[in-house]
Amino acid sequence: MRIRKVTLTDFRNYTSQTVSLKEGLNVFEGENASGKTNFAESLYCCAIGKSPRTQNDKEMIRWGASAACVNVEVVKQYRNYEIRLVIDQKGKKKLAIDGIPAYKMSEILGILNIVYFSPDELKLIKEGPSERRRFMDISLCQQSKTYLFNLQKYNACLAQRNKLLKSGLGFNSLKQTLFVWDTQLAKHGSYLTRKRYEFAQKLKTYAKNAHMRLSGEKEELGISLESSLIYDELDAIAAQYRAHLEADIQKDIDLSFTSFGCHRDDLKITLNDIDVRKFGSQGQQRSAALSLKFAEIDLFWGEVGERPVLILDDVLSELDEGRSRRLLEMSADLQTIITCTKFDEDIPHVSFKVRNGSIS
Ligand SMILES: Nc1ncnc2c1ncn2[C@@H]1O[C@H](COP(=O)(O)OP(=O)(O)O)[C@@H](O)[C@H]1O
Ligand SMILES: [Mg+2]
Repeated sequence: MRIRKVTLTDFRNYTSQTVSLKEGLNVFEGENASGKTNFAESLYCCAIGKSPRTQNDKEMIRWGASAACVNVEVVKQYRNYEIRLVIDQKGKKKLAIDGIPAYKMSEILGILNIVYFSPDELKLIKEGPSERRRFMDISLCQQSKTYLFNLQKYNACLAQRNKLLKSGLGFNSLKQTLFVWDTQLAKHGSYLTRKRYEFAQKLKTYAKNAHMRLSGEKEELGISLESSLIYDELDAIAAQYRAHLEADIQKDIDLSFTSFGCHRDDLKITLNDIDVRKFGSQGQQRSAALSLKFAEIDLFWGEVGERPVLILDDVLSELDEGRSRRLLEMSADLQTIITCTKFDEDIPHVSFKVRNGSIS
């Protein structure tokens, strides 16, 4: 798939801007604070439904303006889409697909598939498990609405269960009430864990390959899901789940939260069997993160049957010459959007100049 046209109105430092993108490599060059990341952010919003860098949507409205709008035309194999995202003066997001208002924000997922990489993505390796769960969830939600449905249900049940644990009810009455939530948690949680297992398995094969090609080194990248549940048929995982929840009730009451479940899952990432999350050098962590993102591209291709759009925000400057060269070669058969301060690679591309909230 590819993005054909992007129109920004009062989005960040853009007043009114239309950009027509080409297939292949689209390079956005500009000085610091000119609006490169802002442009990349607008595309991310139209794919995922939220900003990669702020929780406060209002920040994306141009200062002094009352609302922001991003309009993106997407060309896919079988049909085209027009995504229109408006952030109103209250900071509320409104979505329309092909001119028809969407009932839920989540309807945006799966239309424009993107793989997004910015220097911030190092968090994926370096920080706690929640970053890696976010990576799995965003990827899986883009691939499947059923996954999204189960994730939303799971989070809602978990919040209810935690609320109950804090309610001060006695052990016996709590046990009876929790039963209802536990059944639901086990049902949705076992689905999520199973999908994450499968995701990690597939990602591993692709990532190993990507890492070899990107780093040119012999280090072997390993990926696996770290979960307290053992991989099995769905019913069997759900049964394990319920048993754990029930066994931990007293512990959970003491802690006032649910200590067991897929909200604790993690992705284990190793280089030659060494845990990169803890022991990797900055350079190893960066190339592992990049390999993971490249693996995600192949995974989309395998699962969705279309290549996603690759967005590389300011990552070239962080890589050595060999790596950035190989990165560009690997992204040659996708629509790729690159932002940087200066591009001097001898590779066919379309060039855009970003200056102070204007793209030419
Ligand atoms: N809501 C906003 N309205 C107007 N300008 C903004 C808004 N948010 C950020 N900016 C401006 O955008 C610029 C940063 O743009 P950014 O895309 O991050 O730069 P870069 O080109 O370095 O990636 C800064 O000058 C900042 O002041
Ligand atoms: Mg930037």
